Amino acid sequence: MIVNTVEAIEVIRKRTDLVPEIALVLGSGLGNLADALTDVVTIASSDLPGYPQSTVEGHSGSLLFGRLEGRDVLFLKGRVHFYEGYDIQEVVFPISLIARLGIRNLLVTNAAGGSNPSFLPGTIMFIEDHINFGFANPLIGHPGDGPRFPDMSAPYDRDWIADARDIATGLQIRTAVGTYFWTPGPSYETPAEVRAYRTLGADAIGMSTVPEVTAARYYGLRVLGISTITNKAAGISPTALSHAEVLEVGQTVRHDLEKLIRGIVKHL
Ligand code: HPA
Repeated sequence: MIVNTVEAIEVIRKRTDLVPEIALVLGSGLGNLADALTDVVTIASSDLPGYPQSTVEGHSGSLLFGRLEGRDVLFLKGRVHFYEGYDIQEVVFPISLIARLGIRNLLVTNAAGGSNPSFLPGTIMFIEDHINFGFANPLIGHPGDGPRFPDMSAPYDRDWIADARDIATGLQIRTAVGTYFWTPGPSYETPAEVRAYRTLGADAIGMSTVPEVTAARYYGLRVLGISTITNKAAGISPTALSHAEVLEVGQTVRHDLEKLIRGIVKHL
């Protein structure tokens, strides 16, 4: 993957020389966590050449360097998705940027529909593997300075999952582990698609994360992924799916998820 991050890094390095221990790409509804940062340096993503700009009005992207739970962290706010019409390479520009800044750990979260019938809305699921059903790969093209055929046998770090699950248990937060299935969206699945994806091994279905994690593994980053099951997937759900429901359930687990993420950051 050939990505020009030179100018963007120059802009960042004029503002801060911090090399955070972890970057966090958080799904919607977890904005409050960024408010807990101290010693913050905020950089608008619109100041960074090459950085994709979010199409969601009022949610302009920014990079927040700061401290949380005694660690140097970077929050990437204003994530962009493939379904917004960006090239797959644009979607993962932030990952190239964090890798080139020297950051080695990446935590990604998302909202997902539960295709595993035992995962009820509100379940917090560690992603242990994924299925790329978008058939779009950000690594298509010149291999750049990374491997031509990156290994994906353990995209989500197993030791980190085990540690994070222990942390959750200590906080009395129940968690599950499963396979995340990526579809480009933006329409939700049909019931027949959900049955098919379930047969293929999907526990949770969502529209993000897989491009970013694929790029992150190319750069050798250590990755932890967490899905919030916000709804039963189509056909399992007795009612039609709505974005409002997704946001609402996301809010009900927000408190636990924030506690968990703080614990994970603290115990890096
Ligand atoms: N399907 C795909 N993406 C989602 C869902 C879903 O049911 N819920 C939240 N994101």
